[in-house]
Amino acid sequence: MKQVIVFGSLNMDLTIRCERMPQQGETVEGSNFLSNPGGKGGNQAVAAAKFGAPTRMIACVGQDVFGKKLLEVLCGYRVDCGEVKVSETGQTGVAVITCHEGDNRIILSSGTNHEMKPADVREVLQRIAAPGDIFVTQYECEQNTVLASLEYARELGMYTIFNPAPAKIIPEKYYPFIDLLVVNQTEAKYQTGIFPKEEESCKQAIESMRRLGAKQVMITLGSRGSIFNIGDTMHSIPAQRVEVVDTTAAGDTFIGVLAACLAEDKELEESVRFATKAAALTIMRYGAQQAIPYREECEPN
Ligand code: ATP
Ligand code: RIB
Repeated sequence: MKQVIVFGSLNMDLTIRCERMPQQGETVEGSNFLSNPGGKGGNQAVAAAKFGAPTRMIACVGQDVFGKKLLEVLCGYRVDCGEVKVSETGQTGVAVITCHEGDNRIILSSGTNHEMKPADVREVLQRIAAPGDIFVTQYECEQNTVLASLEYARELGMYTIFNPAPAKIIPEKYYPFIDLLVVNQTEAKYQTGIFPKEEESCKQAIESMRRLGAKQVMITLGSRGSIFNIGDTMHSIPAQRVEVVDTTAAGDTFIGVLAACLAEDKELEESVRFATKAAALTIMRYGAQQAIPYREECEPN
């Protein structure tokens, strides 16, 4: 069976809800404080594993309590953490998240996520990857390492999914190593200068990223669902209508489930339907990894 290999970030999310965002120099009352495992890489791996894919994580944490907790929780969800490095000196990544009216703002301390170097990822992939496996990465680890990892994964015959979040530019020479590029609206604007909104601008943004070399491009549009190309044809899948509690990890759930479906050789359109249902369930719950649904819940309507 194909495996999903995620190279990416592990963060402890410190989440607090507030009625309104504080102004400069102001303190506001918060509620529902939660310390819960997150990080784009970890969330995507958990989404794939909860969906049932054999999932392995390549990452780095510190020797602190957050690092220990992150590994314990990931292993509990059956993510194989045998290749996660434990740094002797660095601090585990931390994300401070404020939730207000369902939306969030995040401040990130990358910590040990930035300790992974290209040679570290290459060495692990050479040992554990097989042609056809699904490789997933994002931009919360060191940029050069992330970009090099796409090249290595491709050399080894893996199918590569890249989610360039938080938004940073992708140098042109790396586009050809991307099989499926998944971006939200902000990230699409960052890469192309086009803010994709209605069908025509989405199409233009997708075409612009395809011209640079990405084989398939998918834009997620929040409550409006997603749009992507299959060959030269555009497809869109609407989002589910749900009550928003906390959008943290919506995009990560979408990508993790998509990867798990592709590992089962499902068609892209069917995979997106599962991913859309899973992301909707995540935003109905508070937190990151704890909010991600299991496969049984994700049957599309
Ligand atoms: P995140 O909030 O995790 O950073 P993102 O910005 O990466 O998410 P979005 O485009 O906001 O990505 O959402 C990803 C997918 O999650 C969407 O394509 C959609 O299927 C689902 N989704 C997001 N917001 C909503 C919503 N309000 N209602 C229903 N589904 C949603
Ligand atoms: O995408 C959501 C994640 O981004 C959070 O879990 C947080 O760790 C931030 O990095």
